[in-house]
Amino acid sequence: MLPFSLTRCDPIQILLIRKSTDIRMSLLPLCVSSTSASASQEGIAIIGFGYVGTVLAVFLAERGYDVLAIDNQAKIIEEIKAGKPHLKEPNVEDSLAKFVRSEKLKIDTSYKGIQNSDVIIVTVGTPLGGHYSADLTALESCIEAICPYLCKGQLLILKSTLPPGTTRNVVAPILKRHGIKPGSDIFLSFCPERLAEGNAMNEMKELPVVVSGIDEESALRAESFWKRVGLETIPVKSLEAAELTKLADNVWIDVNVALSNELARVCESVGVDAMDVIRAANSLPKGPGKVNFLTPGVGVGGSCLTKDPWFLVDFAKSKQVQLELPQVARRVNDHVPAFIVNLIESELKKKNCVPRDTRVAVLGYAFKGSTSDTRNSPAKEIISKLSSRGFTVSVYDPWVQEEVIIRETDINPSSSTDDCLRSASAILVLADHPEFKNLEVISNSKALKSAIVFDGWHIFDPRSIVELGFDYFSPGAFQRRAD
Ligand SMILES: NC(=O)c1ccc[n+]([C@@H]2O[C@H](COP(=O)([O-])OP(=O)(O)OC[C@H]3O[C@@H](n4cnc5c(N)ncnc54)[C@H](O)[C@@H]3O)[C@@H](O)[C@H]2O)c1
Repeated sequence: MLPFSLTRCDPIQILLIRKSTDIRMSLLPLCVSSTSASASQEGIAIIGFGYVGTVLAVFLAERGYDVLAIDNQAKIIEEIKAGKPHLKEPNVEDSLAKFVRSEKLKIDTSYKGIQNSDVIIVTVGTPLGGHYSADLTALESCIEAICPYLCKGQLLILKSTLPPGTTRNVVAPILKRHGIKPGSDIFLSFCPERLAEGNAMNEMKELPVVVSGIDEESALRAESFWKRVGLETIPVKSLEAAELTKLADNVWIDVNVALSNELARVCESVGVDAMDVIRAANSLPKGPGKVNFLTPGVGVGGSCLTKDPWFLVDFAKSKQVQLELPQVARRVNDHVPAFIVNLIESELKKKNCVPRDTRVAVLGYAFKGSTSDTRNSPAKEIISKLSSRGFTVSVYDPWVQEEVIIRETDINPSSSTDDCLRSASAILVLADHPEFKNLEVISNSKALKSAIVFDGWHIFDPRSIVELGFDYFSPGAFQRRAD
């Protein structure tokens, strides 16, 4: 691959051009020069400084790039500048503070600086909108907002998760309306982000990048960029193939978890340990891999698995294709919190615990371990259902800001595990944060002697919990009772 050599745009030229979009294409500032620049001299702008944008920005700064991160929420930018990180993710916070201090990573609310960038990467949110279709408002407004500052020769990479056809039929037309021809004025690529929170930095460094472009040159330039960054690439034949790849990954995960959750329920009904079954079942070679049941859990949360299957269902529907499986999986996974609440309630009833006199302690409010992200967290629904059935619920999560828990649950969070577990009749581990993985969290607690432990993430050895005198439950309803 030839090196992609770049110079910067001339803002004055941009101002002249903006007066007439008709002549825009011919006058668009030139970003490609004949002089070669080393990879780390390339400037990168990232639009959207949430979970994905932040991890990507820190990763690229670590790789030596000058990064400009832009977010339209002034509060986020101000907080980071004041040294208050807006999210928690392993190996991100300290580096973020360091790079912001050294200005290797600049953060701003203005899009103006992208005219000095060679590569622009979009990571704005694409949440679920009405009727189970994608809400592309942030994407559209972001593309509109950057258009006045785009320069000839820049590479625009979309990383946000998009319904198939969005890059071609939504993004490209906006660019064209602004007189910018994707594929000749700028290069347009879609490379979905596939990292998982909690291990995002490692995945950012290790996952191969799926690459596509609006034309061959755009795809080649994007591929070349990710290779310079040091990442493996997986080129696919079209934008739509890349958009579908991302959705396919997440549908596979959601359907697989749903299957495990259903297997867990049948195992529960016959007193069999689902984890035992899954360990054995997963030993069967099949195709290029093996049978691979994921682990049954507390339900599926986060911002991606809960929406991406709907993007696929909605897109298929628009093509007169009715998809059943992703919808069923969504329903199965959405029902898990209710099953858990029913289980806890019935077990507490067996112990003659009356809800109004009973404390249930929840360890972990984030949707999974090692993240501050609470979007669609199953814990939210479990807490709400337990509260509405009259239980007193205490919550502790060292990864989530107190104000978030108060805002979302109306509960003042506990200040420590000890504080949370005091006098509890049930202990529910709903996020597998490292802080909870020590048996002493339970053994040293002042929970009631007759308490039950619901280990939502299978972090404890059931025997150890039972030896402490507690009844043990986990998804797959592997029950062990302290006699
Ligand atoms: N979070 C994940 O684990 C993950 C993993 C893979 C893919 N994705 C996808 O990546 C995208 C981003 O996800 P996220 O979790 O980082 O979302 P997020 O909500 O954490 O971050 C999005 C950011 O974009 C900003 N933003 C919105 N509109 C903007 C605009 N017009 N200009 C500038 N900034 C704007 C928001 O203020 C927010 O900070 C989504 O499409 C998501 O589906 C997320």
